[in-house]
Amino acid sequence: MLKTLFAWFDERLGLTTIYHTVLDRKIPPVNWWFTLGSASLFLFTMQAATGILLTVYYVPSPDRAYDSIQYIMTGVQFGWLIRGIHHWGASLMVLVVFIHMLRTFFFGAYKFPRELTWLTGVVLLLATLGMGFTGYLLPWNQRAYWATTVGTSIAGTVPVIGPWINQVLRGGTDLSAVTLARFFSVHIWWLPVVIGGMIGIHLYMVIRLGISAIPGKDD
Ligand code: HEM
Repeated sequence: MLKTLFAWFDERLGLTTIYHTVLDRKIPPVNWWFTLGSASLFLFTMQAATGILLTVYYVPSPDRAYDSIQYIMTGVQFGWLIRGIHHWGASLMVLVVFIHMLRTFFFGAYKFPRELTWLTGVVLLLATLGMGFTGYLLPWNQRAYWATTVGTSIAGTVPVIGPWINQVLRGGTDLSAVTLARFFSVHIWWLPVVIGGMIGIHLYMVIRLGISAIPGKDD
């Protein structure tokens, strides 16, 4: 019965072909360092899932943000766990993505024909750091407020366009409700869309070009 049902869908959707193309590929001899891309993908998925759950109770306004987080931690069933995973997952994702980048660099995987895989990776790294920066403000506690004050001030030291960048990030001269709304928007919409799109292109190229082999002595 299940076999017939699967065959019906397979004939129309080409599920077996997708399975062979995406998951059943030939790969050269690899080692544990090659698992870090998939680990990054897993962490991104987990951040997305826990982040979506957090938005059910989180309120992005200066007079409610802090209290809504307190409520998630103490009043919501398993709220502490969901927030804990999102909080530690953020740091772990930055670390894992960074080590994945080091792996591809030291194994020369960025060379022809994988230059575009590398370039989309650069965007992924910057967007991941952006997620950390924008997410840090959301609890709206003292640490968040002052860390973002310092962070946006540092961005303001860029020659010529610095003051403009600072103004755009803060949505004014100081941190305010506008800053919080802006960071929340970038954190839950703009950057996840960029990361999702870039991961799509990144993985398409990984599948299309195949995984590079570990460089030997002669390479
Ligand atoms: C959210 C972030 C990222 C995700 C989800 C991701 C995912 C992946 C996956 C699943 C692979 C195939 C398995 C592997 O080689 O580990 C891969 C390969 C690759 N990634 Fe990433 N990646 C990310 C960030 C980056 C960054 C920051 C760079 C470099 C700047 C990068 C450059 C590459 C390259 C060059 C390959 C090809 C490796 C090869 O063919 O040997 N990636 N990525």
